[in-house]
Amino acid sequence: MSLLIKQSPLVSHLSLYDIAHTPGVAADLSHINTGAVVTGHMGPEQLELLIFQACLTKCDVVVIPAGVPRKPGMTRDDLFNTNASIVRDLATACAKYCPKAMICIISNPVNSTVPIASEILKKHNVYDPKRIFGVTTLDVVRANAFIAEAKVKQLVYF
Ligand SMILES: NC(=O)c1ccc[n+]([C@@H]2O[C@H](COP(=O)([O-])OP(=O)(O)OC[C@H]3O[C@@H](n4cnc5c(N)ncnc54)[C@H](O)[C@@H]3O)[C@@H](O)[C@H]2O)c1
Repeated sequence: MSLLIKQSPLVSHLSLYDIAHTPGVAADLSHINTGAVVTGHMGPEQLELLIFQACLTKCDVVVIPAGVPRKPGMTRDDLFNTNASIVRDLATACAKYCPKAMICIISNPVNSTVPIASEILKKHNVYDPKRIFGVTTLDVVRANAFIAEAKVKQLVYF
């Protein structure tokens, strides 16, 4: 996702935050010859607030893909315990340092993580329902692909 964003002419600054590998990824991305400046943010828990401040201040769009993905046999709801607190903490940082940003949440289960982030923004009096999004593109393209596949099979059958 960062690779795609770095290639957009609409982006002037790509600010990355992760609990691992961020400086290396930021260095690699910064070598792509497009206009966006790339900065990588990571550090010890004690400095978390300072790191969030450096990463998020002046952000117009925040995309949150942080968290654990499903393993075989798991449902998206099984991710709730881990991802809920990650999204809660990141939403709190957004409320403090970029309260007007558009926030796009990818971390699953999206139908729970979006309400969690919304409640945090409400608590900080910065909630705007037009500025918070759950990213469901994957489900939509999957559904289209599966229906197309089923229709092709149907056509072959007839
Ligand atoms: N909505 C969608 O369409 C969609 C699509 C794909 C994945 N997802 C979801 O996105 C999430 C991530 O999936 P993935 O496949 O990219 O997993 P991944 O393991 O490849 O990446 C997750 C990243 O989050 C980081 N991370 C973990 N805890 C963090 C924290 N506290 N703060 C910041 N970063 C943290 C990890 O270090 C890792 O780099 C999962 O919940 C998955 O279900 C949603």
